[in-house]
Amino acid sequence: MKLLDGKATAEAIKKDLALEVSAIKSKGGKVPHLAAILIGNDGASETYVGSKVKTCHEIGFDSTLLRFDPSISESELLHQIREINRNPEIDGLIVQSPIPSHIAFSKVTETIDPAKDVDGFNPVNSGRMMQNLPAFVAATPKGIVSLLEHYKIETSGKHCVVIGRSNIVGMPMSILMARNSWPGNCTVTICHSKTVNLEKYTLSADIIIAALGKPGFLKASAVADGAVVVDVGITRIADPSRKSGFRLQGDVDFEQVAPKCSYITPVPGGVGPMTIIGLLQNTLLASKRSFQFANSN
Ligand code: GUN
Repeated sequence: MKLLDGKATAEAIKKDLALEVSAIKSKGGKVPHLAAILIGNDGASETYVGSKVKTCHEIGFDSTLLRFDPSISESELLHQIREINRNPEIDGLIVQSPIPSHIAFSKVTETIDPAKDVDGFNPVNSGRMMQNLPAFVAATPKGIVSLLEHYKIETSGKHCVVIGRSNIVGMPMSILMARNSWPGNCTVTICHSKTVNLEKYTLSADIIIAALGKPGFLKASAVADGAVVVDVGITRIADPSRKSGFRLQGDVDFEQVAPKCSYITPVPGGVGPMTIIGLLQNTLLASKRSFQFANSN
């Protein structure tokens, strides 16, 4: 069994990004600038947005963190997004999810200018991605693809089971793994909460991508020998022995499953750091105005 080390891979890519930013700076070019909107003070969201902002600084990007009270109205939030759409200083915008239930996330994603949509959640980007057109690809699936590429994982003709069908991970991930490319060219099965007899699918999988948000869900009895397992879950579990009061647990029962795998991602240090890399790569693309959108705001 080998670890798909997202932390080390992310560090290597970060060095390349930092070099590229310093080259841009020395030529007097536009420094990539990411804006992040955080609503409320959910502990996990604070951590994720904090890491995104910190990594921007590490590699020389500008960043702006905008915080709003959970009572912010939908119309006020959409107004703030439109202001950022119009601000030429800011290249990329993310609104950290989850957001309060009185605001429709679909309205948020549809309001973000596709040219600044570095999360790739606007339907223009997800649609373009599906049609293999230049687009911002959602950061977590993009990071996973980079990790498979870094470890030269053979994917062509393999059976890939994606567990989870969210717009953020499961759906874009399954499209990327089915695309005519490498990594890609898989036969993909999407499993979800209504799948009957999940093991029937996972036991024939060469690659399993678990993105359902249920800690320890994938057991060894559901995994074939030699499978590649990618664990997208990062649930906080109360742990009084830790200074933070919690530990992170993936969707995979790592202790049991790891010995059966050819490759597996750890949690933490697997998919998480690669997600941040995907976002930064998208922000760099946005700052270079890499994609032309016919109906951009
Ligand atoms: N919440 C969980 N994952 C993500 C992500 O990739 N982007 C944003 N904006 N929110 C998230």
